[in-house]
Amino acid sequence: MPYLNHQILLDSHADGLPEVSNFIPAKQTINHCDADKVVIRNHYLSVDPAQKGWMSSAVNYASATLGEPMRALAVGQVVESNLEDYEVGEFVTGWFGWQEYAHVGTDKIRRKVDPDQAPIKYAVSIFGLNGLTAYIAMKDILAPEPGETLLISTAAGAVGSIAGQLARRWDCHVVGLTGSDQKAALCCNEYGYHAAVNYKSDDWLEQLRRACPNGIDKYFDMAGGWITDQAIHLMNHFGVHAQVGTAAVASWDPVPQAARRERVILLKELTQKGFIIFNHTDRYDEATTQLGNLLHSGELRFHEDIRDGLDSAPQALVALYQGTNLGKTLIRLIGEE
Ligand SMILES: NC(=O)c1ccc[n+]([C@@H]2O[C@H](COP(=O)([O-])OP(=O)(O)OC[C@H]3O[C@@H](n4cnc5c(N)ncnc54)[C@H](OP(=O)(O)O)[C@@H]3O)[C@@H](O)[C@H]2O)c1
Repeated sequence: MPYLNHQILLDSHADGLPEVSNFIPAKQTINHCDADKVVIRNHYLSVDPAQKGWMSSAVNYASATLGEPMRALAVGQVVESNLEDYEVGEFVTGWFGWQEYAHVGTDKIRRKVDPDQAPIKYAVSIFGLNGLTAYIAMKDILAPEPGETLLISTAAGAVGSIAGQLARRWDCHVVGLTGSDQKAALCCNEYGYHAAVNYKSDDWLEQLRRACPNGIDKYFDMAGGWITDQAIHLMNHFGVHAQVGTAAVASWDPVPQAARRERVILLKELTQKGFIIFNHTDRYDEATTQLGNLLHSGELRFHEDIRDGLDSAPQALVALYQGTNLGKTLIRLIGEE
């Protein structure tokens, strides 16, 4: 004490794609730790596509507040504690925001992190939103059966790379949609996809048709938008479509006008279900155990796109929507190579 705390504040809403100008740097001094709080020194900050929705002024399941550090998950170490259950030196993950220090109560802390079990950064990637979403949405919504064809969009990303490997373990024919040839190669060479298609190719739908000779039974969809408007026509009767993300839709205000899907849903008797990871907390333990087992046995491959320094956070978020990240995007404030 005191702690000089550099922060990245949300300065303006983004109703389209996020821009660096939506954020401003700031600093504050934390002079003392309140009675019911801890001070946490953040080591890694998470950068997630969902932050675009949180920055929007449109109605969402969660919102970031103007003038406050950008809402973000992070992992860090307790440096001051006035909470009985948290000791100085322990690592924790939670809603600590884009800042160097978080002065928070238990409402912002999600859980403790054991640095002897796995690198602490995994708390905001494999054992955070990304791995948990891949495992729980895959198992609970799509319930893959051997031999089924399973399509995954944003296939090479933080969620998609894990989802692909899980689907492969369930003996599915696994096909990915992604935004570059490099990422399509990564899907096949590293993440076990049987095929991956670059949706920016002129003939991508024809390529997808060829990659799915028996049609698509299950669709783990994180793109939505114009991509799904077309891909959904390749789905089989009684197919299941999990809407896990909408990366291909730049803005929901106004709601974009597009091809209607009702007829194909009716004719093919498709099932559609949405998913928000924060509403599935009862499933976290199973998912964490299963992902941990795969990780420790070396059966799970995972790429990280790590950028250094707090100031790199806004551009890292912009990059997610340029599709230039290769794997999970993290901001390293302190930490191992
Ligand atoms: N529902 C939930 O609870 C939940 C939880 C976690 C994540 N998600 C969603 O899952 C998706 C992937 O998240 P992630 O953390 O794994 O991110 P990520 O895939 O590592 O990175 C985001 C990716 O989105 C794709 N993308 C960006 N702009 C696009 C556009 N205009 N059209 C199509 N694709 C575009 C890009 O991949 P390509 O180059 O391959 O297109 C980009 O690399 C996001 O939509 C995210 O919101 C949902």
